[in-house]
Amino acid sequence: MPTILITGGHGGIGLECSKHLAAHYSANLLLAGRSLERLEPVALELARTYGVKVTTLELDTSSLASVRAAAARCHALLNDGTIDSLQAILCNAGARILGVNYSVDGYEETFATNHLGHFLLLELLIDRLAKNGRVVFTASGTHDPETVDGKLVGEAVEPDAMMLANDGKDGRKPISAGKRYSTSKLCNVLTAYELDRRLRRSGSAITTLAFDPGSTPGTGFLRAMPAPLRWLSKTAFFYRFQKRLGITMGTIGFSGASLARLAADPAFAESSGKYFQSNDGRMIEKQSSAVSYDEARALKLWNDSKRLVHLRPDEDCTLLR
Ligand SMILES: NC(=O)c1ccc[n+]([C@@H]2O[C@H](COP(=O)([O-])OP(=O)(O)OC[C@H]3O[C@@H](n4cnc5c(N)ncnc54)[C@H](OP(=O)(O)O)[C@@H]3O)[C@@H](O)[C@H]2O)c1
Repeated sequence: MPTILITGGHGGIGLECSKHLAAHYSANLLLAGRSLERLEPVALELARTYGVKVTTLELDTSSLASVRAAAARCHALLNDGTIDSLQAILCNAGARILGVNYSVDGYEETFATNHLGHFLLLELLIDRLAKNGRVVFTASGTHDPETVDGKLVGEAVEPDAMMLANDGKDGRKPISAGKRYSTSKLCNVLTAYELDRRLRRSGSAITTLAFDPGSTPGTGFLRAMPAPLRWLSKTAFFYRFQKRLGITMGTIGFSGASLARLAADPAFAESSGKYFQSNDGRMIEKQSSAVSYDEARALKLWNDSKRLVHLRPDEDCTLLR
């Protein structure tokens, strides 16, 4: 049975996606996250409920060493047959981090967590993905400064990897948490499109998609926000209020199921390089932001990301050159 690797597949939208993949596609799962203590009970419960095989993988996307160790473990699991084959990689883990923190590698944590870790993971694992496999990025509508979502959370800035990785250093004023988050999600969309172009050039049939789940209450996403705001975000009143403002709205069940469909439904096999959005119970293909289609910016982001993760020549996957 093919296996689907999902980062952050044990909580929030990722967990709903994992349930849907197990229940509707009988997919085996490789749940990747930074705490085995949090992953393992969820893995056991999913396996018991849906009768699929669920394996856990320790992975902190903000740490290059952790990503390299996780990729090596994934290769070992494939080599020893614990996992038969890798059908999809879902780059779903993500966070909006309020203060300016730096990862163990010295990079701004939002950028390291949401973009760099997934970039490296793909470089290290894509050659083990099934020939007709999929990569799905959980991005966000906030990446687009022309949307209400983008304006309210914080408008994405120039997706300059070197600047983003070193944001706030050398006495410079850091950009706001909202802008850092939106820009990291713009990096997800740019990377999805650049990945698609590279895979097409190398004749690969792997499908790459980007996904906006919409503002989805009830996940751990607002964990750093004050408790009253977290409570309010789950009310029907707030849902209607946000919808009226023109915010893209998700529910945890629908957003998770939509991500699962993008990962496994044959209907999306020919949609590589596209952006999908779930909004108020419907998933549609959408145009992403104007900047996200800028190939020069995507190429620069790719090359700078390679430098930032110190990609060694032996790690540079031939499919992606
Ligand atoms: N909820 C929304 O309104 C919304 C809207 C648009 C896009 N999104 C995107 O949807 C995705 C899922 O978010 P969510 O709403 O489901 O929030 P969530 O419940 O907080 O889920 C985020 C997941 O990412 C994991 N994670 C965070 N930092 C990590 C790291 N350094 N290494 C590995 N895993 C890490 C978390 O695991 P831990 O248990 O280790 O914390 C958690 O499982 C994110 O990419 C988010 O940006 C969410």
